Amino acid sequence: MQTKKLVATVKALFADDKGLLAMDESTTSCNKRFAKLGIPETEEMRRQWRELIITTPKLSDSISGVILYDETIRQIKNHEGMILGIKVDLGLKAFEGHPNEKVTEGLDGLPERLKEYVAMGARFAKWRAAFEVGEGIPSQDCIEENARRLAEYAFICQQAGVVPIVEPEVLMDGDHTMERCRQVTGQVLKTVFAELKAKGVAVEGMILKPNMVVPGLACKTQESVEEVAYATVTLLMEMVPGDLGGIAFLSGGQSGQLAAARLNAMHVTFRDKLPWPLTFSFSRAIQYPALEIWSGKEEHTKAAQESLKRRADICQAATRGEYTPQMEK
Ligand code: 13P
Repeated sequence: MQTKKLVATVKALFADDKGLLAMDESTTSCNKRFAKLGIPETEEMRRQWRELIITTPKLSDSISGVILYDETIRQIKNHEGMILGIKVDLGLKAFEGHPNEKVTEGLDGLPERLKEYVAMGARFAKWRAAFEVGEGIPSQDCIEENARRLAEYAFICQQAGVVPIVEPEVLMDGDHTMERCRQVTGQVLKTVFAELKAKGVAVEGMILKPNMVVPGLACKTQESVEEVAYATVTLLMEMVPGDLGGIAFLSGGQSGQLAAARLNAMHVTFRDKLPWPLTFSFSRAIQYPALEIWSGKEEHTKAAQESLKRRADICQAATRGEYTPQMEK
């Protein structure tokens, strides 16, 4: 295994308190977001949006790497000094015999696909498993099946010299409490790291992309920013090996402001006690409100890029524990 190369890529991705920008929405997800804003759901419009993002002036001041989708890596000519990542899972499928649970697909032919992506410049990859929280779910069976696949994917990536981002997302939908999110996330992380270990994945050459420990979006009790930060970091310290390459959070449907404030609070509270670098790998919490501003209109490009740059810079400030609500004005 090319551990040295993997570690060097991880270090480059976390350098200068930068973070990642996820822009790897599948065609279906991207079209859904376009449809809400009346943007034509075409390959050309998706290309224009992704190009607008990548060519944002000085985006690389705060963004070290971008995660692309298969369609996009073939469309984008220049990546403006940011490291290229690629989503390699093929999405969620119903988990047989387990109503309302899903498993992620995409292991078939993965080594060959990776080879092609590496030739196109990709140095890291992403695979997302998603767990809905509900009555009796997620089941341990579902967690184990997804964890096995995540570990298999991570192993294949490392063999190819590609840094795997391992993303087991506990979804925010529902009215479950923060405590329930903490329990489920703990169970998921424990299983995922056991499978990674069993498979022989070098954790120093990978990145974990977890959810924050948050109450469900419809839960009546919404804990403070500091409580979320505390619950999240203490759980990660308990479940995640200290020699892990780093952690980059997904935003999962939190507003940009809240995601930044929570990440900031983690750094303020735990400053020198964090064993791994801790940053962001947001999609929605950076792409909004820029997507609304753009709305498919070329004349709005500059304003949309300014918004993107602003959100990315705010996230970097949060990674430094230097975020203030005044920055939102
Ligand atoms: P969000 O930040 O919008 O949750 O997206 C992150 C991501 O990459 C989901 O796979």
